[in-house]
Amino acid sequence: LIHCLIMNTIKAVKNAIVCLVLLPRFLMAAVMFWLLDFLCIRKRVFFRMEQEGDAIDPPLCISDSNRLFSVESLKAVWHGHKLDFLKAAHLGHGAPNTEVVQLGDQRRSRILDYAKEKRPLILNFGSFVQQNADIADSIVVYIEEAHPSDGWMSTDAPYQIPKHQCLEDRLNAAQLMHLEVPGCQVVVDSMENSSSAAYGAFFDRLYILQEGRIVYQGDRGPEGYRISELRDWLSHYRQRMEKPSDLVIHV
Ligand SMILES: *[C@@H]1O[C@H](CO)[C@@H](O)[C@H](O)[C@H]1NC(C)=O
Repeated sequence: LIHCLIMNTIKAVKNAIVCLVLLPRFLMAAVMFWLLDFLCIRKRVFFRMEQEGDAIDPPLCISDSNRLFSVESLKAVWHGHKLDFLKAAHLGHGAPNTEVVQLGDQRRSRILDYAKEKRPLILNFGSFVQQNADIADSIVVYIEEAHPSDGWMSTDAPYQIPKHQCLEDRLNAAQLMHLEVPGCQVVVDSMENSSSAAYGAFFDRLYILQEGRIVYQGDRGPEGYRISELRDWLSHYRQRMEKPSDLVIHV
């Protein structure tokens, strides 16, 4: 009984610490959302981001009719921050080898099964695909929906998909996506959402793995989902191919 009590206390303390650490950034995000619901501010902020950003990156587009500040959106933001904070994936460290399910034959496999010897493996927890087949392999890992039709609904989402209740729902939803990215291996996260948790991948995120390690870790999406960083990493890599001692390339 005492052992149980101690374990519960440790768990409660850990939760409290996580909440305390996350609270300031969550409140910042909430204020930002509230401000962005004033359309004049939203237009200005997005215009500025577009000016400063790289043209290759997917633009943040939110139509005027979509409100950002809501219970569902804040819940999703909290969830994303929490996953990011507790993720196991860190630059330069071993890549979590979580279980995924292959689209098509529904075979269970693991992330690192897709890595081929020394070739970089792009781990894409998003839907913008850039082909780099000459020097890298890539897989799209479809995780929980960022904008489920029964959660933080968005009319800007290409499809209206409810929260996945079972693996079949998730596979069906991924199937829709697969049609959009022909020629790219698509896998789905397990229903325990273990890849999303290990990589802090919600809403979307980019990674590059090589020889079992994380050699590029993008920021939390959508703001941090930058195809331009991926492109830069790969072009550096292409240049340094003759010097295989470089394991981590900072961009
Ligand atoms: C995984 O995500 C789905 C939403 O797609 C959710 O319904 C489910 O409860 C999550 N599973 C766990 C173990 O948190």
